[in-house]
Amino acid sequence: MNVLIIGSGAREHAIAAALHRSPQSKNIFCCGTSLNPGIRQMTLRYWTGDICDIDQVTKMAREWQISLAIIGPEAPLEKGLADALWKMSIPTIGPKKQLAQIETSKGYARTLMQKYNIPGLPRYQVFQDISGVDKFLHQLGEGNYVVKANGLMGGKGVKVAGDHLRSFEEARHFCREILAAGQTFVIEEKLIGQEFSFMCFCDGEHVVPMPIVQDHKRAFVDDKGPNTGGMGSYSDASHSLPFLTEHEVVSAFHINEAVVRALTKETGEKYIGILYGSFIATRRGVYVIEFNSRFGDPEALNVLTILESDFVKVCEALVTGNLTRDQVCFYPLATVCKYAVPLGYPETPVKNGVIDISAVKNKSQLYLASVHAAEGKIYATGSRAAAYVGVADSISAAEEIAEKEVSGIVGQLFHREDIGTERLVQRRIDEMRRLRES
Ligand code: AMP
Ligand code: GLY
Repeated sequence: MNVLIIGSGAREHAIAAALHRSPQSKNIFCCGTSLNPGIRQMTLRYWTGDICDIDQVTKMAREWQISLAIIGPEAPLEKGLADALWKMSIPTIGPKKQLAQIETSKGYARTLMQKYNIPGLPRYQVFQDISGVDKFLHQLGEGNYVVKANGLMGGKGVKVAGDHLRSFEEARHFCREILAAGQTFVIEEKLIGQEFSFMCFCDGEHVVPMPIVQDHKRAFVDDKGPNTGGMGSYSDASHSLPFLTEHEVVSAFHINEAVVRALTKETGEKYIGILYGSFIATRRGVYVIEFNSRFGDPEALNVLTILESDFVKVCEALVTGNLTRDQVCFYPLATVCKYAVPLGYPETPVKNGVIDISAVKNKSQLYLASVHAAEGKIYATGSRAAAYVGVADSISAAEEIAEKEVSGIVGQLFHREDIGTERLVQRRIDEMRRLRES
């Protein structure tokens, strides 16, 4: 079986590693934006270019006689790559364009939730222009709103009152900036609580959960500094998180299920791929921050590293509509993922610095990200460079492993020492307890 991975970051490296571990006979192929040597060593053939160029990617898929495709990032989903591959009779993991709107349009996601009465919806309004903005901002109140560009903006499309916006004037200014970039926007109520990522496999009908993960968006220790693509993440041996109740986990899962049903009803299409609900546990229960139509990065690294089941079989079940819960097992282990990123990331990263991974002891849990291999060297291209996933019985033991190994990656890099430490996890638990008691 010839399996094609689209994308070349750490998420796709983790996908390749999970496929590679499978005892099934298969050849792995990759269409990526750069030459990731971690993926390269597991693939038969590797093409680099624009992965949003549907003609090019489908041409490679035809040439390589691909029988299963897995789309990593959201940008090719938005362009309709899944539609094009299914049209060529290539079973594909990753939803078609219309369904991917659950991620690619924040207004679509909120409106769908409202139309189908899905719980977890904050107060919101979609805007095509500036009229009505003042009225809604005043309704929500000073410090109590979030402004979001409707479409994909590479992680720069969301600003939160108090964190990034200090006055209604600044909020209006950001709205105008979004409009000038040719986008519409959503304003919604600011939610306070603990965020968590809950990804599910969907075969068009059945929805099967993965372990819950917490990502860390801020660049620096103690959640300081600008937002990033995600500096690291952890999951617990229970597959829940220490600050969540069973009821909150069940509520979030039901929301994911309800969204898949609503999307199917709305579009008449089957959702085949990953639905990733980004949730926040608040004192009023679980709310939705957003949905993604793909594996999270870094969250995929946490869960795929502890996937006990044969990933090729899981993929086959996904595309044939035969997915069951007992086909998807994860080891009851905790994971901590830490990203090493270039100095200056995310605003002014050092570009094309050499990194040396030779001191990393167990490379099977090292995932390379925005790197390019040339003349026997690995260059960090400017975004997140490499991630290490520690696995152990407890979060703090996994943290120790991740910290030691990520520190062994040499280069002009930094990482967050605090992710997964007992101190940080306890702080999350205490914050959530205080919120519930308030
Ligand atoms: P998104 O791109 O929608 O994931 O938003 C980026 C970040 O903005 C999230 O991880 C949250 O930290 C924050 N955010 C988004 N929506 C809200 C909201 N309604 N209330 C509070 N924070 C939010
Ligand atoms: N972890 C955030 C994302 O994948 O969008």
